[in-house]
Formats: sequence, C-alpha cells, structure tokens
Amino acid sequence: MERILVWDLPTRLGHWLLALGFALAWLTAESENLRLVHVAAGGLVVSVVVFRLAWGFVGSTYARFESFVDRPRAAFTYVKSLLGERPAHFTGHNPAGGYAILALLALALLAGITGWINYQDLAGDWLAEMHEAIASAMLAVVVVHLLGVAVGSWRHKENLARAMIDGCKRGRPEEAITSARVAAVITLIVCAVAGTWLLSL
Ligand code: HEM
Repeated sequence: MERILVWDLPTRLGHWLLALGFALAWLTAESENLRLVHVAAGGLVVSVVVFRLAWGFVGSTYARFESFVDRPRAAFTYVKSLLGERPAHFTGHNPAGGYAILALLALALLAGITGWINYQDLAGDWLAEMHEAIASAMLAVVVVHLLGVAVGSWRHKENLARAMIDGCKRGRPEEAITSARVAAVITLIVCAVAGTWLLSL
C-alpha cells in the first residue's frame, strides 16, 4: 500500500466550495442586511451540487456513484467493522459515507430550491419553515459527516481531510486514478459562477 491519487480535482474543489457555501449560508441566515450573501451562498451550493450529480456519472472512478452507492447492509457491515480490530478499508468512499453523501446532496438541493422559491416570494410561511427544517436536517448530517471523517481517520490511521485536499489516499498503485481531470474544473467554475449569479437575481 502506498499513497495514490484517488480524488480528482473537480471532486476536491467541489467539496470545498460546497462546504464554503454551506457555512456562509448558515452564518448569514438570520441577517436581513446579508440577505444577498445568503442567497448567493445558496446559489453556490445548488450549482456545485448540480455539477456533482453530473460528475457522479462522468467523473473519474471514485467520484462515480456506482463506486460508493451500495446496499444498506454494506454500510452496516462497514460501521460494525470500525468497532473491530481490522476496520474494512475502502480506496474511495466507504459505503456508510456514501449514504451521508447522498443525503447531503439531496438536502442541499432541497434547501436551495425551497430557499429560491422563498426569495422569489412565490409561497407562504410554510415554505420558509420547511426551508429552515431542511437546513437544520442538513446541519445534522454535516455533523454526522464530520464525526464519520474523524472516526474513519482515527481507525484507519489516515488523514481523510488531507486526502480531500491533495487527493491522495492509501491504496495499491494499480487502483490510482490516472488523471486529476484538471480541465473539468473549468466546467465546475463556470457552473458555480453562472448558478450563483442566476439564482441571486
Ligand atoms: C471542515 C469541514 C469538512 C471536512 C474536514 C470534510 C471532509 C471530508 C472528507 C475527508 C471527505 C471524504 C470522505 C471519505 O474519505 O470518504 C468528504 C466528502 C464529502 N463531504 Fe465533506 N468535509 C467537511 C465539510 C463538509 C460540508 C460542510 C459538506 C456539505 C455541506 C460536506 C459534504 C461532503 C460531500 C458531498 C462529500 C463527498 C465528496 C464527493 O465525492 O464529491 N463536507 N468530506
């Protein structure tokens, strides 16, 4: 086992843009003065998620949904293995993390859609309340996600957060992705800028 390239660049950049958009949206949620920042942060989150959904089908091996969406039983087996002596190691996302990722992407999209409808004044208070409830559910999943990253890093003796920065995890050389897909970052940036602008109008 050595350190090999696992996460392509669009996956990494998309991740940190999503985390930034989410944090900004949370911090500005209650402020009237910063309403536009909140809306723009929501636009950023939605556009990154739209890119990520497409990337889940055309991205590199470990970014694809087929590589980390497994049966619920696989997620339970993985979590159980974390309690044992030899936790199962996955080169890409583990199956439990896979479910957290799907939940985060779905909640982010729902939060963005309900937020935009609110911003356009197209619905009543009930939708504003639903928007808040979805955002709170998302925060809960983010906390679970961060705990999962911390426990996974500890049990595998591997800094998973650093892997989301430099793209490298432990694995066999033949499991490495062969390209960081740098060119696709342009699509992500265009998508993020256009989406943030359009959804803030
Ligand atoms: C300081 C905060 C954060 C850290 C250190 C962090 C770390 C990580 C790590 C290490 C992974 C890869 C997990 C694995 O090895 O399988 C990951 C994946 C992911 N995280 Fe985070 N995360 C953070 C915040 C967030 C936030 C706020 C969100 C959502 C709003 C988020 C959404 C995701 C998603 C969607 C993935 C899947 C990445 C992909 O395949 O595109 N993360 N995160």
